[in-house]
Amino acid sequence: MGTGNGTGKIVVFACHWCAYSAADLAGIRRLDCPENVRIVRVMCSGMVHPKLVMETFALGADGVLVMGCRLGECHYKDGNIRADARRMVIHDMMDAMGLEPERFRMVWCASSEAETFVQACRDMADTVEALAMRR
Ligand code: FES
Repeated sequence: MGTGNGTGKIVVFACHWCAYSAADLAGIRRLDCPENVRIVRVMCSGMVHPKLVMETFALGADGVLVMGCRLGECHYKDGNIRADARRMVIHDMMDAMGLEPERFRMVWCASSEAETFVQACRDMADTVEALAMRR
């Protein structure tokens, strides 16, 4: 597996309570995160509306990750469950725009899981790079 430091823009919507803290921890531990990742802190993954995801693609993102607390551990009760329920809608909208479904993922993690955060970013970076080579 590559390090995912290639081309493309990846936007990560990271929940403040878990994924954003995991990203912070990854920085403290000096874990290598792909350079083409930009993190947007949100208070809960449930705040990331499908329209926001589509606007992010329209503005030039090649891959979008929504990362939130583990299911059942959302600080706002069911925000991540609502986010998870939007997955199909987002994929339908992507399909209508001619975007490959692999360009969008949701990943759940705890604030202590810096490796999970970094691996999700690397996986998306590898995916975006592979899709670019296919074109
Ligand atoms: Fe983290 Fe809701 S507070 S996903």
